[in-house]
Amino acid sequence: MPASGPILGIETSCDETAVAVYDGARGLLAHVLHSQAALHAEYGGVVPELAARDHVGRINGLVADTLRTAGVTLPEIAAVAYTAGPGLIGALLVGASFAAGLATASGARLIPVHHLEGHLLAPMLERRRPEFPFLALLVSGGHSMLARVDGVGRYDIIGDTLDDAAGEAFDKTAKALGLSYPGGPQLALLAQHGSPGRFRFARPMTDRPGLEFSFSGLKTAVLTALPRDADEQTRADIALAFEEAVTDTLAIKCRRAVEQTGLERLIVAGGVGANRRLRDKLAQAAQRQGIELFFPRPEFCTDNAAMIAYAGWARSGSAQPASAGVQARARWPLQELTPPDAAPLAGAQ
Ligand code: KG4
Ligand code: ZN
Repeated sequence: MPASGPILGIETSCDETAVAVYDGARGLLAHVLHSQAALHAEYGGVVPELAARDHVGRINGLVADTLRTAGVTLPEIAAVAYTAGPGLIGALLVGASFAAGLATASGARLIPVHHLEGHLLAPMLERRRPEFPFLALLVSGGHSMLARVDGVGRYDIIGDTLDDAAGEAFDKTAKALGLSYPGGPQLALLAQHGSPGRFRFARPMTDRPGLEFSFSGLKTAVLTALPRDADEQTRADIALAFEEAVTDTLAIKCRRAVEQTGLERLIVAGGVGANRRLRDKLAQAAQRQGIELFFPRPEFCTDNAAMIAYAGWARSGSAQPASAGVQARARWPLQELTPPDAAPLAGAQ
């Protein structure tokens, strides 16, 4: 293995096939992504078997494209980082076994990456990066949590969801409004035409202390408010009221978490972090509280391989030889992670 060099990142935990190259000294060299959204749209959600099969068909070409764009050859790759979980097991196995094949063929090392660690470290891909410690709001299709981040592998979950994740609530509500999967971005577009104040939904769990989330009641409230033959304007009005309720709730909990922890930096990660209304509300709240706010660019909020390559680089000091085998875990609690036991490969990013 080269003593230092670029890290190839592979992400296949759900319905995006993504590949990236990150170099400790030179930064992000390339990132490429294929979304399977159109493949799953007619089913209203991700079909695991179709996802795995589509990853198989795409991964080889995407790796070749990414290496070409990065101007890097396979033998120059120091290590291959891949998402080892949590996620859909068949989909994860495609990326893990492809990573192992590449590492075996090229002599590179292997780094299993926790998908949520990728999301939590995604703001590090930007020019303006947060210093540790920081507070993180991680809101994706599978997770809604507030975590204290003291360093790589040092995560303390201080707020979690009791039922649906924020992204899941967006997707289910979007489906009820007749929008196709994935519904979050489409619901946000529909909400732009909504008239404020016509509908109002409760801000769940904000009337009691604590940092827990619960979004399933909100989805039920939408279903109750939605007339059977709702016209376009009514659907837009409901979409707006729903988006206001979710984003207000997230902003209220962030404000509380800042007060409770005394942390002075907040980062927002995960697909729902791409939501404009949420970003605006958090920006206003951060200004009022006098804290610094960091967002990855929207394409690094949703699933991508740049964050996997970066997290892989952060753990590259403990990369394993390909002969050590691969991991793939559908479930993998974030709390099981520990800090890397060695410094990353050369480069001071
Ligand atoms: O992080 P992500 O790409 O995948 C997971 O790890 O889950 O998050 C996907 C979720 C989906 O639920 C999607 O609807 C939501 O993020 N999402 C959004 C927006 N963009 C993506 N939700 C609200 N507004 C958006 N602009
Ligand atoms: Zn994700």
